[in-house]
Amino acid sequence: MINFRSYNPTKIIFGKDTYKEIGGILGEYGKKKVLMVYGGRSLKANGVYDQVVHSLEASGILFFELGGVKPNPRLSLVYEGIEIAKREQIDMVLAVGGGSVIDTAKAIAAGYYYEGDVWELYITEAQPEKVLDVGVILTIPAAGSESSDGSVITNEETRMKCSCCTDLFFPKFAVLDPQLCYTLPDSQISAGGADILAHVMERYFVPDDHHDFSDRMCEAAMVSLIENLPKVLKNKQDYEAWCEVMWIGNIAHNGLLGRGKRDDWGSHNIEHQLSAYYDIAHGAGLAIIFPAWMKYVWKEKPEMMEQYALRVWKVCPEGKTREEVILEGISRTEEFYHSIGLKTRLSEVGIDDRDFEKMAEKAVFMGPLGNFKKLYKEDVMEIYRLAL
Ligand code: NZQ
Ligand code: ZN
Repeated sequence: MINFRSYNPTKIIFGKDTYKEIGGILGEYGKKKVLMVYGGRSLKANGVYDQVVHSLEASGILFFELGGVKPNPRLSLVYEGIEIAKREQIDMVLAVGGGSVIDTAKAIAAGYYYEGDVWELYITEAQPEKVLDVGVILTIPAAGSESSDGSVITNEETRMKCSCCTDLFFPKFAVLDPQLCYTLPDSQISAGGADILAHVMERYFVPDDHHDFSDRMCEAAMVSLIENLPKVLKNKQDYEAWCEVMWIGNIAHNGLLGRGKRDDWGSHNIEHQLSAYYDIAHGAGLAIIFPAWMKYVWKEKPEMMEQYALRVWKVCPEGKTREEVILEGISRTEEFYHSIGLKTRLSEVGIDDRDFEKMAEKAVFMGPLGNFKKLYKEDVMEIYRLAL
């Protein structure tokens, strides 16, 4: 196990009706004036908006609004949010939504104090020195941004999707009420599930040795997700199954599962360019990229891929070579994606090879990707080709 520091300050407030207490929670943090950030129609359609506003008003919290965050959140809306935050001198950004909303809130929180263009934080080594506090009400288990140190924003002009990571981006608190997931469309449930699985796999397929406890935590997360995700797709009001999915989604990306080893993130960076070019849902893109990445890199550390096949997918090794076991593990992964309604090929979602080179260049513009196998531009292009 390699040396590590472990830090995650986000308070998780989990369970039925917890989001209705948001006014009181903000009061506990001494907040009086917030910018509430949210997405498109879902929040008003499912009544969550009204409940949140009611709680804020009842607690005397003054709030301003920035709605309209789109999936693969745009930089232009971040600028708008920074302007409102500065003008109104707010003391917290409250994100009510999924990863796109939370990442927008984090970018606004950084832009509030940053003197240059906030986009610099996403494309250079520059780091924010101070950010506004961020609080979260999560409405979809997926990105894990509710207790991660990252924010991912798309610059729609340059067609680049980039991330900024800093300890300052950990939200102060995240409210997780599994009932809020009942209104999610199937496509978002599946994409969210694929993202959660990917967050575990990025921390599972690592080049280092000696991480048995961590491996077993990752395997537990994967096995439980694989069992519970189909349950919520079958019955959207299965509260207990949603509890499992929401909790796994949080643990998958709060840093815990990656301690003591160098996680990978190659597939994520390769996928982000797909989202930037084709506006595909992040999780849907990962279901296409991850199997291709596995096929490309498994020979780097076959024992890890074999362990995955045996322990997560319970592949029967009898009469099979190691390679056969591994390839069966990969195809079981693809079958799982299919079973929850996801595609596993670029051609199935109407993407051809015309932008491979440009996307690969952007994916590696800060240097080679990944740790399991270092990936350069040519490797990334090969993975896109394998995914075709
Ligand atoms: O916009 P509305 O109408 O609210 O609809 C949203 C949106 O269309 C809908 N939705 C959310 N909650 C709902 C709901 N619909 C009905 N009922 C509900 N309760 O879901 C759609 C997708 O929302 P989005 O926020 O984009 O989803 P997700 O949480 O998957 O976030 C994806 C973004 O997070 C980034 C991704 O790259 C992507 O941009 N990531 C952020 C990370 C981080 N900050 O740590 C890490 C991740 O790996 C990821 O890269
Ligand atoms: Zn992700």
